[in-house]
Amino acid sequence: MSGVTIQAERQPRASRILGIGGYRPSRVVTNAEIIENIDSSDEWIRTRSGIESRRWANDDETVISMSVAAAQKALADAGVQPEQVDCVIVSTVTHLYQTPSAAAEIAHKLGTNRAAAFDISAACAGFCYGLSLASDMVRVGTAGHVVVIGVERLSDLTDKTDRSTAFLFADGAGAAVVGPAGGAAEAGIGPVVWGSDGQHLDHIKQKENWRDALYSETGPEMPHLVMQGNPVFRWASYEMAKVAQEALDAAGVTVDDLDVFVPHQANMRITDAMARQLKLPERVAIGRDIATQGNTSAASIPLAIERMLETGEAQSGDLALIIGFGAGLVYAGQVIRIP
Ligand SMILES: CC(C)(COP(=O)(O)OP(=O)(O)OC[C@H]1O[C@@H](n2cnc3c(N)ncnc32)[C@H](O)[C@@H]1OP(=O)(O)O)[C@@H](O)C(=O)NCCC(=O)NCCS
Repeated sequence: MSGVTIQAERQPRASRILGIGGYRPSRVVTNAEIIENIDSSDEWIRTRSGIESRRWANDDETVISMSVAAAQKALADAGVQPEQVDCVIVSTVTHLYQTPSAAAEIAHKLGTNRAAAFDISAACAGFCYGLSLASDMVRVGTAGHVVVIGVERLSDLTDKTDRSTAFLFADGAGAAVVGPAGGAAEAGIGPVVWGSDGQHLDHIKQKENWRDALYSETGPEMPHLVMQGNPVFRWASYEMAKVAQEALDAAGVTVDDLDVFVPHQANMRITDAMARQLKLPERVAIGRDIATQGNTSAASIPLAIERMLETGEAQSGDLALIIGFGAGLVYAGQVIRIP
């Protein structure tokens, strides 16, 4: 047996988000347009979900093009060049190619043919999952800079005549650049609290697999997402507040230290229920991007953060709690410093 020792990575260093960027499709879809296809009303959609309008992508606004646009903004915001990127992680459930990964194509289009690149499938928790992976890579030195992208074209997989989902899902991309915190700076990304509960697989899922959709008796059609909204609503509103509290505890902070709270933009009432249970002080700014963006799954948290920075509701350096949750059921939350 060889007595040689494998050289381990260096001592962990602190990581942080260096920049953030988003892409919002140009087409605004109003509740009036949605209810042309379902038995519903503007009033019901607003009061039950908080959504006033959403964005749906045009044909030329693809998973790839939206991601590249968002990542370019995040890189510019971070002051990081494409050649400094060591890894690109893309969370999506709507890239319609099984292979190659969206990440490899996006990395190339960003201007690097060197970075490691891979996709993950963690639904609406995808941004927080990706951020956790990126943070750990930077901390142990596996990568210097990582681009994390959450991107969806959920309109492709939404049945526009299904009133349980048609008003909810939307399209967009959000990106973050993760890198070393530098110097003796404190950690900018706290420990992740994450998990899954597969006994609830049926609560939100793609109804049929691709083969069944293609060879259906009624002819080929896109598979659709189906959702049992109310059980998801109850799970998210109650169980996720506990996970959010665990993420605060893991980072060694309390709600009184927070400046910003950005949960996955699933439903305004879920956001309000979580804020109440966490006993968030009134002064904590809350991400409410869902009102005009809809539920964009993995893209929703970075898009909401970008919006809050643009409006001045969040400032660089603010302490924020983020938490994503969705199909699986999966969840992940962490405390971050806003870049
Ligand atoms: C979908 C959602 C907005 C529905 O709200 P809800 O308060 O749970 O509503 P319910 O499903 O209990 O339905 C309440 C009533 O509205 C009706 N309804 C359902 N969809 C409707 C629609 N689009 N328009 C009008 N009425 C509707 C129901 O039939 C029901 O009527 P009834 O009381 O006569 O039986 C909510 O459950 C939700 O947001 N769930 C979580 C979504 C989510 O986070 N998904 C993915 C995680 S990423």
